[in-house]
Amino acid sequence: MTLPATDRIPYGGDYNPEQWDEAVWDEDYRAFDLAHIDMLTVGVFTWSLTQPDEDTYDFTVLDGILDRAEREGRKVCLATGTAAVPPWLAHRHPDVCRTDFEGRRHLFGVRHNACASSPAYRRLATEMARRIAERYGDHPSVIAWHINNEYGGVCYCDLCAEEFRAWLQERYGSLDRLNEAWNTTFWSHRFTDWAQIVPPNMLSEHWRGPNHTAFQGITLDYSRFNTDNILRTFREEKDAIRESSDLPVTTNMMAIYRHLDYHRWAEHLDFASWDNYPTDGSPVSRMALSHALMRGLKGGQPFWLMEQTPTMTATRDYNPVKRPGIMRLWSWQAIAHGSDSVLFFQMRHSKGASEKYHGAILNHAGRTDTRAFAEIAELGAELERVGAVLLGARTPARVAVLFDWDSWWALEITDGHSRAVGYEKQVVAYHEALWQAGAVLDVVPVTADLTDYDVVVAPFLHMLKGDIATRLEDVARRGGTVVTTVMSGRVDEDDNAFLMDVPGPLGALTGVRVDETDSLPPETVNTVVLTRDGSDEVRSAARHVFDVVQPQGAEAVGVYTEDFYAGTPAVTRHGFGEGSAWYVATCLDQDGVDWVIRQALAEHGLVGPFAGVRDLEHTTRAIDGRRYEFLLNHAAETVTVAAPWEGTDILSGRDVSEGEQVEIAPAGVLVIATR
Ligand code: GLA
Ligand code: ZN
Repeated sequence: MTLPATDRIPYGGDYNPEQWDEAVWDEDYRAFDLAHIDMLTVGVFTWSLTQPDEDTYDFTVLDGILDRAEREGRKVCLATGTAAVPPWLAHRHPDVCRTDFEGRRHLFGVRHNACASSPAYRRLATEMARRIAERYGDHPSVIAWHINNEYGGVCYCDLCAEEFRAWLQERYGSLDRLNEAWNTTFWSHRFTDWAQIVPPNMLSEHWRGPNHTAFQGITLDYSRFNTDNILRTFREEKDAIRESSDLPVTTNMMAIYRHLDYHRWAEHLDFASWDNYPTDGSPVSRMALSHALMRGLKGGQPFWLMEQTPTMTATRDYNPVKRPGIMRLWSWQAIAHGSDSVLFFQMRHSKGASEKYHGAILNHAGRTDTRAFAEIAELGAELERVGAVLLGARTPARVAVLFDWDSWWALEITDGHSRAVGYEKQVVAYHEALWQAGAVLDVVPVTADLTDYDVVVAPFLHMLKGDIATRLEDVARRGGTVVTTVMSGRVDEDDNAFLMDVPGPLGALTGVRVDETDSLPPETVNTVVLTRDGSDEVRSAARHVFDVVQPQGAEAVGVYTEDFYAGTPAVTRHGFGEGSAWYVATCLDQDGVDWVIRQALAEHGLVGPFAGVRDLEHTTRAIDGRRYEFLLNHAAETVTVAAPWEGTDILSGRDVSEGEQVEIAPAGVLVIATR
């Protein structure tokens, strides 16, 4: 089962006409016509309408919305609507409300609020999914199922404690094995009865917040359990849908979202989808990383961009509007990285409550003569013209970045070495370097098949699971390059340290041994001098953590300049088999990371043709022997580059010959179908 069947890149998004009366719907559809909108996501928050009390189901409103969509020739991604519980449900079954990290049982309020262990929630959400699918599974407009909405958060209630114990029994089989995994002899924690185990929160193992735990193993397992427990509700809804419909199922995810290990979800999704709301100040490349992470869930199959704001958000302290051209640029960026849709939240501004100022296709006045609407309509027309050619196209990547939620969790809940080292920030830095260098890349789990990659970048791979160390060795052995870093190869799957030299099972591959890791306050810099084969020196400000490295066959390509380890290796390269492995023993600044990454890519001729042009993004999709080269200018200035390919820009229709100088304005996009 794969993506929904469409004959163009679906364009549209969340549509909540249940919030206003039907006279307004005419205006909505006139605007959809103008904007070439063909796809509506419906029913995401309709539970209190479709089930006004436990014994009454009422689909009148949804019937009306869907029938109208059909008459208007629109396709629908239909939600099960289970992401916000109705008041009667919380009132009648208080156990649907979550208990938070401080141990407080919540009352009814907000959304994304259900305890995934609550029998009432599970029964009623599943029943809702069953009824929706039964009623609309054959509806001519419906082409996909959208279960729930942005799953997330954590619950620590007594029901979750029960479920956690059951999950642990399943995982470990015996208390002996659990005691070993959690190293419970430390601080007198040996459990002799499953009933003694309680969720790790501020009332139990934690001493300063979610990242400060006395027993990493317990907290780590609670994160894994929470992922699986919430996933179970998704699977229950999906099974209920399957009783009457074979249409593809997804849920809209949040990409680099810490609470849920989406890799554990991947096999249960028919296709991946996600909501792109970049935080202000994050690099543009972070969106590219997110897209690639989402594409990586289904082995490189295209995903859907389920939501983005057409203009502005409403949840931040400041909510800038997207500057002219940016909405189009970021939409094309999503497509460039494997999205087969461009969808928004939402079609019309709500009248009241927390999202009344959140961006929408139509403002409160319903105007279609605004700047924002004009851009939306132009993009709609453009996507319609492009048609189906890009649908299903894959990304021919030779570079992989490993992304691992277990490493993320384990690194950040660890006491020592440095609390200042965040997993996300470090992965973003390595990815940013690859992005600026124009590497066409995949972001994959540690279980992925690595045989097709020439360069594998594994930043802060704190935990080594399964045979990943061996498979990284295989990459280098057959001639590939592996890049890994400080804080990698530290713990096994149970979060227990390897009883060997650091970096544990990565020692042979990296050719280094680390006897000490120094960590210093963020303002303390140790400059690292990077140079190789007589090339110009690059000086990089290193911070946070500093491995003192004893080379075991590796050559130093970067050295510290300060402290008692001045002159010793800070970055090394080790020939291994036909290939090599790089070990970056500290947190280099971006210039340093860029240098290392370009060296690694250069070993395979994988530095992209526009690596010298800052913020000019290049990536590729390919289908049926045809390559589409995407060029997106995120810089504030026009750039002029020599086209390395001959082809036609499918957006402007203009032919491009090899070597021709091509001008790309700020926010400009080219999609060159090569010949
Ligand atoms: C999320 C949700 C939507 C909406 C938008 C607004 O992505 O899924 O329901 O709240 O945010 O930013
Ligand atoms: Zn709970």
